[in-house]
Amino acid sequence: ETQILAVQPAEPEAAKIAQAATLIQAGELVVFPTETVYGLGANALNPQAVEQIFVAKGRPFNDPLIVHIAALETLQTLVSTLPPLALPLAQAFWPGPLTMIMPASSRVPGMVTAGLETVAIRMPRHPIALSLIRSAGLPIAAPSANRFMHVSPTTAQHVLADLQGRVPLILDGGACEVGVESTVLDLCSTIPTILRPGGISLEALRTIIPEVQVAAPRTKHDEEQQALYAPGQMLVHYAPSVPAYLFEGSKESLRQRMLTEIQRYHQQGQQVGVLLADEDEDYFNKSGATLYLLGKTPEQVATRLFAGLRTLEDAGVQVILCRSFTEEGLGRAVKDRLLKATGGNIIFTDEAYQ
Ligand code: TXA
Ligand code: MG
Repeated sequence: ETQILAVQPAEPEAAKIAQAATLIQAGELVVFPTETVYGLGANALNPQAVEQIFVAKGRPFNDPLIVHIAALETLQTLVSTLPPLALPLAQAFWPGPLTMIMPASSRVPGMVTAGLETVAIRMPRHPIALSLIRSAGLPIAAPSANRFMHVSPTTAQHVLADLQGRVPLILDGGACEVGVESTVLDLCSTIPTILRPGGISLEALRTIIPEVQVAAPRTKHDEEQQALYAPGQMLVHYAPSVPAYLFEGSKESLRQRMLTEIQRYHQQGQQVGVLLADEDEDYFNKSGATLYLLGKTPEQVATRLFAGLRTLEDAGVQVILCRSFTEEGLGRAVKDRLLKATGGNIIFTDEAYQ
């Protein structure tokens, strides 16, 4: 059975953290909140404990995990050499939603790295995550606490929906603040490369690494060409259980086209869910679709996006239509997750945007 323990997010109760830390030390799994999404954690130095993460998620063993730390001293023990940019980046963005890929030391089990010579490391800033790592006295390997191929969880209820009976303990610290996963930055490539846009924006990274590159988003064609995918780069990753479409174009043209599509689906007797900005509400109010408003700013959209996808899924809609948002700041991560959720299904509604 899965126990859910409510924990104060700002000042976690020591006794509750100690209970969770004891499980981690014993090689068990604990779900805990981070500022990005909930993580499914285990002792990163214990291969048997880490193996259970893959089993609970249904995740293939060839997709490596992020190791979470609470102090810079731990970093030294996990890497064979420290890339010169690691410390300036840590100083600027840790604790926070930045994951750095570095050369792994022999202490890191192959179960964590999927046999790669590199390891992904991040220091989260959520007080519950930090105190759990400190209390356990161990680095904690943790992927997002969802079933493989499902949307990442931003509340304890999302975790329960996916992992009930598969984990002994969920620390419930309320809704995650950032709402999209960390930015994964490869420091082992010749030019530092963003493998996954996330909670630290490209613009912010450029202030420390002006030359930083973004890995090209993968297309359906790439996927068909390559049986082996680069870690975390699969296009279909956050797939909701219903088909989803992303509408790109000017505000006016995408609204019109979305409304036309809603009517078309309704004529076929299908229920439609739509992900919108707050400002779209009036336009779609009488459409008969199930609306989910994501907010105004890129930060708000990022925070609510995964909850929106899950809410529409749970509402039983047969198709999800989503408008596009700005790609500035956290908007880049939002776009990436929407491309994954839609499997690259984009409907261009305006010649100028094609
Ligand atoms: O915000 C986050 O990053 C959350 C919270 C729990 O920290 N974690 C998370 O983990 O999103 P996960 O496993 O869902 O995503 C980790 C990503 C995967 O895409 C994985 O392929 C990539 O990081 N990754 C891990 N180790 C890697 C490595 N050595 N080289 C390249 N990519 C790596
Ligand atoms: Mg994940």
